[in-house]
Amino acid sequence: MAPIAPSAPKLAAQTPAPGLDDVIAAETRLSHVDGQAGKLIIAGYHLQQLAHWRFEQVLELLWRDLAQPPLTAEEIGKALGKARVTAFSLMQPLLAGIRTLSPVEALRLLLSALPDDAAEPHHVLAVASVPVFTAAIVRQARGLAPVSPNASCSQAEDFLRMLGDANPDDDKVKALDTYLVTVSDHGLNASTFTARVIASTKAGMFSSVVGGLCALKGPLHGGAPGPVLDMLDDIGDETRIEPWLAAALDRGERLMGFGHRIYRVRDPRADVLKGAVSALKDGSGRIAFAGKVETAALHLLKERKPLRPLQTNVEFYTALVLEAVGFPRDSFTNVFAAGRMAGWTAHVLEQDQTGRLIRPQSCYVGTMPS
Ligand code: ACO
Repeated sequence: MAPIAPSAPKLAAQTPAPGLDDVIAAETRLSHVDGQAGKLIIAGYHLQQLAHWRFEQVLELLWRDLAQPPLTAEEIGKALGKARVTAFSLMQPLLAGIRTLSPVEALRLLLSALPDDAAEPHHVLAVASVPVFTAAIVRQARGLAPVSPNASCSQAEDFLRMLGDANPDDDKVKALDTYLVTVSDHGLNASTFTARVIASTKAGMFSSVVGGLCALKGPLHGGAPGPVLDMLDDIGDETRIEPWLAAALDRGERLMGFGHRIYRVRDPRADVLKGAVSALKDGSGRIAFAGKVETAALHLLKERKPLRPLQTNVEFYTALVLEAVGFPRDSFTNVFAAGRMAGWTAHVLEQDQTGRLIRPQSCYVGTMPS
């Protein structure tokens, strides 16, 4: 029998796709973003249907059929509580080493210290760790000792407890739950793709999600609802709203919290978070003031950029929700990671099931050897 000739290497696509726009790189049942219609589907539900769910319930949806053993939302709540206690003790010896780091660098360091031989299910420990680490990082920056977790609380309630709010209002817990659910997954965004690439090498859950966090850290991704608050502070009072916004646009600046690469209509997450923040007490008038800034900004953007539909994005109301429940603005990226960890872990589990190494090709444009 004639030997089988080795197959010719497949040719790389001749035209690279910068940014991989429009390239479909994975099949997923976890979430779908429809930028034209302004819809976000998470594991079979419209985001709006999940707006009042607890984070644990959405984890149950995302991990269903992927994680072993399958757990109900209630069992997930218990497993997270136990894993928060584990994360707290793993963190203790490392706290001195994060003093000089920014909050997201500190989170990166603490997450990367999660051991590959941890006894807890790794997806559970990864999700449980972020609130524990984030709260401790905030408190350490304020010169305060970390508050130990209470395993019987929900993840959202315990997050606020560990931040220092001994008995958080139900409204605040609900708002944080809505936030964590709203950002839990969002298609093949840069951090999720990064996590899947690392998972495809079989490097393990913790390495994959640390990679996700590193991608999220960039200003083009998880960077900054913080600047939305800077903008509101800088505008200061109602009489300055229109002149401030008009002057910023005259200088060619972008208004923070508006526009999106994929959504051509309103980002559905903005409305869900607007609902969450509107249910909170607005003692300082911040939320009402922000609403006036939003209305004026949308009006001006329509006038100035008639060909480009620019709408409020998730960051505008993220800033307001996270400020209202008590997070300092330099911790916002870490709180984003606390929600997105749900999606990262589910994608890592899903990627594991494919068993396929992600290894695209490049198009060589260098000189050829003579
Ligand atoms: N304010 C004013 N003008 C804007 C804004 C904005 N927020 N966003 C886009 N534009 C204008 C641009 O100046 C450009 O105008 P031109 O054609 O006259 O030059 C036009 O709209 C298209 O801009 P692009 O850069 O092509 O839009 P893109 O879709 O790539 O940008 C982005 C998306 C980066 C989010 C942009 O809208 C932006 O910078 N927004 C402000 C920052 C922000 O809110 N970021 C958070 C986004 S949500 C998230 O990532 C989770």
